[in-house]
Amino acid sequence: MQIFLDSTDTKLIAELAETGLVDGVTTNPTLIAKSGRPMLEVIAEICDLVPGPISAEVAAIKADAMIAEGEKLAGIAPNVVVKVPLTRDGLIATGHFNRQGIKTNVTLCFSAVQALLAAKAGATYISPFIGRLDDQGADGMGLITDIRAIYDNYGFDTEILAASIRTTGHVKEAALSGADCATLPANVFGELFKHPLTDKGLEQFLKDWAGTGQSIL
Ligand code: E4P
Repeated sequence: MQIFLDSTDTKLIAELAETGLVDGVTTNPTLIAKSGRPMLEVIAEICDLVPGPISAEVAAIKADAMIAEGEKLAGIAPNVVVKVPLTRDGLIATGHFNRQGIKTNVTLCFSAVQALLAAKAGATYISPFIGRLDDQGADGMGLITDIRAIYDNYGFDTEILAASIRTTGHVKEAALSGADCATLPANVFGELFKHPLTDKGLEQFLKDWAGTGQSIL
């Protein structure tokens, strides 16, 4: 499963990319607002930091305007993926981008039939929002399972990008449910490395090693 960071914090992205485990980055208008920086500048910087797919979201509502914005965003760098909302106009724009060879991430997906339409429109990625569904008492992970089954039934190659991830448990379940990618906030990415038994075990190993008085180098 590919791991993306859901962030516009370029300092943090650079730091986490050093692990070699960051396959891409997703952004959205809220994250751009949080950065306090001009969108085009932030996206260009992220594209330099991470060679994988970098999602940059349009802000327009109408298909024509989404297409104009998306073409501009796609011009920033070859690894830009144009993110469009899952609306009727968003899917018209997705079809257009698909015909132009521009990659898309269809976002704000909350149902399996929405995901079916996005795949038919030629979306490169579909982003089901797990956490926001769970927040409503719905079954976020069940949505991933349903989309996986539908896409496999018809051989759609749209990749399932599990989004709105809140916990490491979400990451595990997304992987078990067959999501192709998951986009994580930096804190969840950091938590993936950790286990208390790893810390405890390492502490004991280091103590015992020190007792031997040996050195490997
Ligand atoms: C995905 O592309 C979105 O940017 C993101 O995952 C939304 O997450 P949130 O529900 O935590 O805002």
